[in-house]
Amino acid sequence: MSTPSIENIKHILVIGSGAMGSQIGMVAALAGYRVSVQDIAEDMLAQAKEQLSTRMQANVAKGRMDAEDAEAALGRLAFTTDLAAAAADADFVIEAATERLDIKRQIFEQLGALAPAHAILATNSSTLGSSKVADASGRPEQVCNMHFFNPALVMKCVEVVRHGQTSDATVEATMELARRFGKEPVLINREIPGFVANRLMGAVQKEALALHSAGIASVEDIDTTAKAALGHPMGPFELMDMVGLDVIAFIAEATHAETGNDDDLPHPAIARLVAEGHLGRKSGQGWYTYG
Ligand code: CAA
Repeated sequence: MSTPSIENIKHILVIGSGAMGSQIGMVAALAGYRVSVQDIAEDMLAQAKEQLSTRMQANVAKGRMDAEDAEAALGRLAFTTDLAAAAADADFVIEAATERLDIKRQIFEQLGALAPAHAILATNSSTLGSSKVADASGRPEQVCNMHFFNPALVMKCVEVVRHGQTSDATVEATMELARRFGKEPVLINREIPGFVANRLMGAVQKEALALHSAGIASVEDIDTTAKAALGHPMGPFELMDMVGLDVIAFIAEATHAETGNDDDLPHPAIARLVAEGHLGRKSGQGWYTYG
């Protein structure tokens, strides 16, 4: 075993170039790290590159950053389909691939063989505790969850979740890396379904869905109440649409699989919208219609 340390971290590999992976990569590049974003899909990589470039241009236009700094950060970010080459000198890996255990286990097995011995292998998963992939990597003490929030460029919190074998050095380096990313890490000492943030979010959503199904108030009025009475940046229905109703249903199913509590199953209204293909913002229709 090799002891990981924050000082060893120079090159960060992010696996998956969806909304989460691409923005996590940008966060790391903005913090000065050399970053590779790897995906099996060329078109996803091209889309990620374009979207990040557009976001950086918007930051420059708003006076939030210098054009040279944006250019330099984008220059530190490489997009690749070649996992072996990107992993060969990666000091820290953040896996943000599809939420499927078989795929994640395969990735962690490959990373265990490809990445340097000191590298920490983290997963951004919100539903799968890292103990589920740690053994596949052959270095379970260097595996943890490093869970970012959507949109990762904006949201400050990162949940660092240790499993039974995660070493203190891995936890410390991951917490410090999150700080160097400009984030506020929180430590979760034990794997539980939903960690902390999704449990809080789920509780609010459950109540919002119950109020709406009982005809107490409209979607719009419940959202307005959350924002105007409680100061939430978004109402629970707006937030579900942003996260994706399929993701909300998946989180509920994963929680139910662990707890066996039928109260944790996706709410029937969510299940119905997902079955109709209404996934929220990304499909143009969810609780709200998007133009
Ligand atoms: N990607 C990157 N940046 C974004 C963005 C996105 N998708 N959406 C908005 N932003 C940026 C904007 O560019 C803007 O930046 P500037 O300050 O530099 O101008 C800033 O965020 C604020 O945006 P807006 O003024 O357009 O809108 P807003 O004030 O309503 O903020 C928001 C948008 C940051 C998303 C805010 O509404 C918010 O905090 N919502 C709650 C989000 C939340 O709860 N996320 C957690 C979801 S749960 C999760 O992710 C866990 C999981 O496992 C599923």
